[in-house]
Amino acid sequence: MKAFIQTLPKVELHLHIEGSLEPELMFELAKRNQIEIPFDSPEQVREAYQFENLQSFLDIYYQGANVLVTEQDFYDLTWAYLQRCKADNVIHTEIFFDPQTHTQRGIAFETVINGIYGALKQGESELGISSQIIMCFLRHLDEDDAFKTLEQALPYKDKIIGVGLDSSEQGNPPEKFAGVFKKALAEGFKTVAHAGEEGPAQNIIDAEEMLGVSRIDHGVRCTEDRKLVQELVKTRMPLTVCPLSNIKLKVFEDMSQHNIVDLLRKGLCVTINSDDPAYFGGYMNDNFLAVAEAHPITDEEAAQFTYNAIEASFIPDEKKALMRELVTDYVFHYPYEITS
Ligand code: HPA
Ligand code: ZN
Repeated sequence: MKAFIQTLPKVELHLHIEGSLEPELMFELAKRNQIEIPFDSPEQVREAYQFENLQSFLDIYYQGANVLVTEQDFYDLTWAYLQRCKADNVIHTEIFFDPQTHTQRGIAFETVINGIYGALKQGESELGISSQIIMCFLRHLDEDDAFKTLEQALPYKDKIIGVGLDSSEQGNPPEKFAGVFKKALAEGFKTVAHAGEEGPAQNIIDAEEMLGVSRIDHGVRCTEDRKLVQELVKTRMPLTVCPLSNIKLKVFEDMSQHNIVDLLRKGLCVTINSDDPAYFGGYMNDNFLAVAEAHPITDEEAAQFTYNAIEASFIPDEKKALMRELVTDYVFHYPYEITS
């Protein structure tokens, strides 16, 4: 099972690029940009990553992002993430970035997007990893700020496939952003939103109805509403679940309590993702392996997570068919293709 997972083709749909900033790169960028950080070593940074809940993580995460200043910094950050994708056989990734985290500090929108986009393009040509970019609004800020951010994104429409919603879920429900999501949809963006991570199941329903989302990020609290779970089976509304994140932020007590395999077997379109891998202890393979260790699954079930992610992705249909074939070939020929 372990070897099968390690080389299984994967598709990632829930990754905050700022959350892939490893402590070593944080130190390098702090030095390059002469920015003070309150740590003496990368090890000390790692030791500080003990979280009680989402907010305690977000406080440290926004602080870490302060070392990102130039286009080259955003390029280096994204390139480092793509190396991890390659190692874990991620063949396609749809990544989030939080423009407001940077524009609030005086970094230009174009600096951020050009750095990320440049690395993704190189990842496509040199590593064979396809990708999309989703811009998230910070839900602890007001809707006016989100409108301004959407305005800034319009000249980069060709580089940004959709908009999302992240940061503190409690106290910031989907309805707060109904207006700006309506505008984003009218401008041709796809929409997604974090919902049902720390917030109630109702946020999942509201994100669907008020924000017109194509998928729900996290969504694991759907199980608090039986009717909603039945609906999710019927509609196949995807949930981009992040197992290690959920344990680190205490959404579940431990991996044995996690509901992802149960949801898979019920027929929901659940996927496995890494969220903020530098903070939560692992990239795609680590997330798959942690799930499989706590919940014995068959090779076919492991592969189903990839089939679900292909279905849930913003990849054109013809390319989806090719990716499904790739996975089917892998499952069918395993283990011969990797031992021969
Ligand atoms: N939830 C909400 N906001 C976030 C997260 C998350 O898991 N990661 C980065 N921003
Ligand atoms: Zn997230």
